[in-house]
Amino acid sequence: MDFGGAGTLLLAFGVTCLFCLLTWMKNRKWTGMPPGPTPLPLIGNLLQLNIWELPESFSKLSQTYGSTFTVYLGNRPAIILHGYDAVKEALIDNADAFADRTKFPALESVFKDYGILLSNGERWKQLRRFSMKTMRNFGMGKRSVEERIQEEVRYLGEEIKKKKGLPFDPTYLLTLAVSNIICSIVFGERFEYEDKKFLGLLQMVKEIFAVVTSFQGQLLNAFPNLLRFIPGSYQKLYRDLTKLKGFVMEKVKEHQETLDENCPRDFIDCYLIKMEQEKGNPDTEFHHENLCVSVINLFFGGTETTSTTLKYGLRILLKYPDIAEKIQQEIDSVVGQNRCPSVEDRREMPYTEAVIHEIQRFADIVPLNLPHAVSETITFRGYTIPQGTTVFPVLTSVLKDPKYFKNPMEFDVDHFLDNDGSLKKNEAFIPFSAGKRICPGEGMARMEIFLFLTTILQKFNLKSDMDPSTIDITPQPLTNGTISRPYELVLTSR
Ligand code: HEM
Repeated sequence: MDFGGAGTLLLAFGVTCLFCLLTWMKNRKWTGMPPGPTPLPLIGNLLQLNIWELPESFSKLSQTYGSTFTVYLGNRPAIILHGYDAVKEALIDNADAFADRTKFPALESVFKDYGILLSNGERWKQLRRFSMKTMRNFGMGKRSVEERIQEEVRYLGEEIKKKKGLPFDPTYLLTLAVSNIICSIVFGERFEYEDKKFLGLLQMVKEIFAVVTSFQGQLLNAFPNLLRFIPGSYQKLYRDLTKLKGFVMEKVKEHQETLDENCPRDFIDCYLIKMEQEKGNPDTEFHHENLCVSVINLFFGGTETTSTTLKYGLRILLKYPDIAEKIQQEIDSVVGQNRCPSVEDRREMPYTEAVIHEIQRFADIVPLNLPHAVSETITFRGYTIPQGTTVFPVLTSVLKDPKYFKNPMEFDVDHFLDNDGSLKKNEAFIPFSAGKRICPGEGMARMEIFLFLTTILQKFNLKSDMDPSTIDITPQPLTNGTISRPYELVLTSR
């Protein structure tokens, strides 16, 4: 290399370093932010965090910095709220100021700020209100969400019978069944469990989910401009997200061609009718982009989360056969064997409800929560947090908060049972988060978990080929605590 070329390279390197340093200093100039470990230019606190186990890393830092602290993920500061009191003070007591969603570069490449999940302000309010109302059965044809779930659990039961009492990994079947429910609500159709297109779609969702929640996903969020163009998993993520959007656009087109405004079949039909009603409004948020991305948000939100909870729940019941047996006794006395369980039964089944609450608390499947942002500069707990700053209201620190749960790290049904056996509420039970961004699928997910678990236990006995005392119910390591360990179970007809 000649000296001219080397000089140019050196100069470019110097300018880049200077730029990074200036950006870092610009971000660091915010004074009055909560304390935290000292960041390095460009990489922030990445060396002090285990990106595969972020929830654990944040818990460790909270021992030094308390319940409100700052970490730098790359050169972006993020406020970490640890423990129920801090999370409540933000999401509930200062609900409006903490209601925004932060930038999510891993998904924004394709979704921009359309849809429910990534939008803010008026767009978010309108789309969220419409989605929640529609999912609560307003005008979605004759069949309720509950009926759609009951139908799918029956199909699942048939598939389980085909296993003939042999051990199997439940991940696949649970994902198909749960995803079929959201398909039925959004697309108006369920798919056969062998349908190649459906299986391809779910495989794609699984891979997208794995990258977004992984180490690479965290890095992509921290360094979007650097990593987005590097070949490999980021480019594949982009391709998969684009394909998923293409699939939804095709479905929307089919719906448009067959729409009967007097008889909406599903979410897409309801949205198309709303679009028609808003045609004259130049500021309407009801257009194609928001439809496609909202559908993807619901499909994503409605698939992995509930099936992961069910998979975790069944593993916990394998470890505690006496608890599974007590649920079966309650099912036998309230529902019997001649009809399928319904949501109404929940009120009469406090033990089952307490176990489900404890499964959700213990499984803790969205440990970090989804990141928020502050919508305005706010004074919070004596600190000044500038508008737009990312905030993690860490859910695992709430669901395992020793101030609110007697045995936070143990599976203990008594967390939700009174002395007289009725369901005991606990304000720190917020697996769906809290405040304005609380999961809009909560009602549906709670129905699903109840109807799936009770129908399975009504029809089948659970068994493991392992000694229950040796079953490890801690999450799969290096997954940021989001999934159960792999296992097989045996289901025999009762
Ligand atoms: C056990 C099941 C589920 C759990 C634990 C769960 C949990 C969560 C959590 C923690 C959030 C973030 C809330 C926040 O930002 O503060 C969220 C958001 C969301 N969830 Fe769920 N969820 C579940 C099921 C569902 C289902 C069934 C759907 C769809 C029908 C769904 C759709 C969504 C959507 C669209 C958002 C974004 C909301 C927004 O940004 O306003 N979720 N969920």
